Amino acid sequence: MDEKKGVYKVRDIKLADAGRRQIEWAESRMPVLMALREKYSKSKPLSGYKIAGCLHVTKETAVLIETLAAAGAEVSWSGCNPLSTNDEVAAALAVGGATQIFAWYGMNVEEFYWCIDRTLDFKPNLTLDDGADLIFTVHNKYPNLAADIIGGTEETTTGVHRLRAMADDGKMMYPVIAVNDAETKWDFDNVYGTGQSTLDGIIRATSVLLAGKNVVVAGYGHCGKGVATRAKGMGANVIVTEVKATAALKATLEGMQVMPMDEAAKVGDIFITATGVKDILVGRHFDSMKDGAIFCNTGHYDCEINIPDLEERSANHRQIRTNCEEYLLSGNRRVYLLAQGRLVNLAAAEGHPSEVMDMSFANQFMSQLRLVRVDKGEEIMERGKVYDIPVEQDQEIAGVKLSTQGFKIDTLTEEQLAYSLDYAAGT
Ligand code: ADE
Repeated sequence: MDEKKGVYKVRDIKLADAGRRQIEWAESRMPVLMALREKYSKSKPLSGYKIAGCLHVTKETAVLIETLAAAGAEVSWSGCNPLSTNDEVAAALAVGGATQIFAWYGMNVEEFYWCIDRTLDFKPNLTLDDGADLIFTVHNKYPNLAADIIGGTEETTTGVHRLRAMADDGKMMYPVIAVNDAETKWDFDNVYGTGQSTLDGIIRATSVLLAGKNVVVAGYGHCGKGVATRAKGMGANVIVTEVKATAALKATLEGMQVMPMDEAAKVGDIFITATGVKDILVGRHFDSMKDGAIFCNTGHYDCEINIPDLEERSANHRQIRTNCEEYLLSGNRRVYLLAQGRLVNLAAAEGHPSEVMDMSFANQFMSQLRLVRVDKGEEIMERGKVYDIPVEQDQEIAGVKLSTQGFKIDTLTEEQLAYSLDYAAGT
């Protein structure tokens, strides 16, 4: 481990050159964020602001961090999952100097919170989260910091759920913007990003053929839908399990089989949990699985697969490949857990591709600018509330993304606009 107190703690600083090349690769595929960097590196609207971030340390996140710094912010960062940091990128960030960075792949839970604590040492006035662990740490451990925090932004579905519950309970001490709920986030990053990177993680960890396999996807929200449709596209027979009738109905109309997990457990070859809820695969499911079954999670937390239940049933287990652990169960059945039940798309692959993170992180960047406007009294936000992304911001980001790809769209004529607003115009 390489450490410079108060500045960085990363796996190996010598990986920095390789990390820098990865960051450059991501930059070339993130035109919206790079356009924002170009625009705001002149006016530096974030000068004088300190941002603490807790979000997967990937090449895409590095582009976000360096954009925030280019716009004048002081930044301090940790990863938001023990198994998602790209050590090369972390080293490049440490050498680059745009941020303090405390992150390495394979840390334990105690180290995870140590890293978050270090990002709070510089007393931030803005927070940026993925999963809400940073905000929770502020509220639970350092509540005296909250008074000087203008607001925060939250990246993911699970984090937004936690924060809305906290706000409803009257416990949140500053305003938070739900970046996840932007259309240019969930409709792209969650569907196409999670869809592709989850299968990428499974393939890197196992190298199995997906065509012809029974792939069970638990949860048909945006992420589950992305995974299921991509698996179907690769020739898998996809089975969806759901608790929500409308989501299950959509899955049936999109050509998926739907059944309860108790039944799916008997026939599945590959199981992917994407629900955000705990105990999706538990003991009785492991008891009925076929020899050779593979299972993994792509939800934010590692609670969807009950690993204590699995370990209780297994005489012994061993690592077969990187991120692939074999458990021996009754009847001489061997089953395989990927990436320790942590999000397989980041632990075993590289997370969502740069092209979709471009829009999510453009929303993050613009939301941080919005919080600065709140600080300057140009917009009002109440402490303790969760705010949505404005529709205009969504449209602007989508518009820039389209234009960087060379696409043009139509605009309504004055007559069409008048017609669309005229409630008297019928048959
Ligand atoms: N979440 C999912 N994929 C990601 C990525 N590539 N970078 C940062 N956060 C992510």
